[in-house]
Amino acid sequence: AEANVGVVGLAAMGGSLARNLAHHGNTVAVYNRSYGRTEKLIAEHGSEGEFRPAETLEEFVASLTKPRTAIIMVKAGEPTDRMIDALADLMEPGDIIVDAGNAYFPDTIRREKAIRARGLHFVGCGVSGGEEGALRGPSMMPGGTEESWTTLKPIFESIAAKAEGEPCVTHIGADGAGHFVKMVHNGIEYSDMQLIAESYDLMRRGLGLEPAEIGDVFEQWNATELDSYLIEITAEVLHQVDKKTGKPLVDVIVDHAGMKGTGTWTVQSALDLAVPVTGIGEAVFARGLSSQTELRDEAVKRGFAGPDGSLNVAEADRQAFIDDIRQALYASKIVAYAQGFNEITAAAKEHDWDIDLAAVARIWRGGCIIRAKFLNRISDAFESGEANVSLLFAPYFKEAIENAQAAWRRVVARAAEYGVPTPVFASSLSYFDGLRSKRLPAALIQGQRDFFGAHTYGRIDAPGVFHTLWATEDREEIEA
Ligand code: 6PG
Repeated sequence: AEANVGVVGLAAMGGSLARNLAHHGNTVAVYNRSYGRTEKLIAEHGSEGEFRPAETLEEFVASLTKPRTAIIMVKAGEPTDRMIDALADLMEPGDIIVDAGNAYFPDTIRREKAIRARGLHFVGCGVSGGEEGALRGPSMMPGGTEESWTTLKPIFESIAAKAEGEPCVTHIGADGAGHFVKMVHNGIEYSDMQLIAESYDLMRRGLGLEPAEIGDVFEQWNATELDSYLIEITAEVLHQVDKKTGKPLVDVIVDHAGMKGTGTWTVQSALDLAVPVTGIGEAVFARGLSSQTELRDEAVKRGFAGPDGSLNVAEADRQAFIDDIRQALYASKIVAYAQGFNEITAAAKEHDWDIDLAAVARIWRGGCIIRAKFLNRISDAFESGEANVSLLFAPYFKEAIENAQAAWRRVVARAAEYGVPTPVFASSLSYFDGLRSKRLPAALIQGQRDFFGAHTYGRIDAPGVFHTLWATEDREEIEA
């Protein structure tokens, strides 16, 4: 045996990960259910490093040095379960199975428990950065035991992206912590993308700019605090001209956003934890609405009266309004990240995970889809303890939101008045206003609940639990 690591499943992501490992001095055992794919990888890339192709899973396991480390990158769900079982049957106590796919974290918790009972380590590891990231350096979010991390650390650090020289990988926490954090990363990815899309819509429909002009705006924004991978690729997408028609490519792409489920999981988990993630939630719902094609077609056919989305901004004020949109985007983005980190904090408490939020922000600075310059600020805010309760409380972000606030309100108000949907801009602003309100109308809701269901309420001037006898004539209050 001479391979220090192995990869099972050699489709786009797995193949790229195996090559990345080989590029960094690892001897990599590779196995795929159909051997043809393994042969293809070796034929095309075998010269890039030390590969040990295996025709059977037995051969694969036998080629690994102990403790054996096998990274699986197969389809989520059933196929992953089957592969974990097959590997565990062939492996020995102390060996490590890593699931590097996008698994739902409760599955990871379940699998970790089952594999641990057999004396092996199971590590659910979030990997972000797509195919290119897997090949050139992803951001990696492993869970599992500390013990397994000792073995995995040098291997993962060798292949992870580097941000200011530091590898974008850290041990996130026990069992499903890594997959949980990767899931929230994806939720934040959804909100980032939707915020960019809303900005685009405001400039396109609202101000009548052409896609290429908007691409130029995003290029400029990429030199501000918005500097990020998603802003950068947005500029490229908007500059792309369709080869067939000569039109902007974005104009010939069907406007139904797809999704594979991680954003939905983020919201489901947030609901279970009772943590509002309005930015991510609205982003998921916006994709949902975009894909309700029959409903949308029918609504358009019925021709609802209302403004057409032109924002009526005078030519002379256009540049100022574009700058307002930039500020609204930044403020909403800060809110969405604050909410995402709140969700991680709540889950860590619930599952007893010891998650270092500053480290999470640091490993998101490179390799992953949401990589952005402002993650430096976020990691500083957690590092100093200023963001312990909410990212919004860290002085840097408090000030950023306060400064952006007027522009943010102008954009949301104008969009509402003239009919451009801005679900994440608007809901983030509502969250912010709700958060900073001394009193919320929730008092009235408590009154309603007590009225129809005797659900009781608390008083601001006395401890205890109270109920009003609504059905009686004098509606006396009693201590419940
Ligand atoms: C990443 C991406 C990756 C994948 C998304 C796409 O971090 O590299 O998030 O995991 O591209 O899951 O998600 P949707 O298909 O749901 O948009």
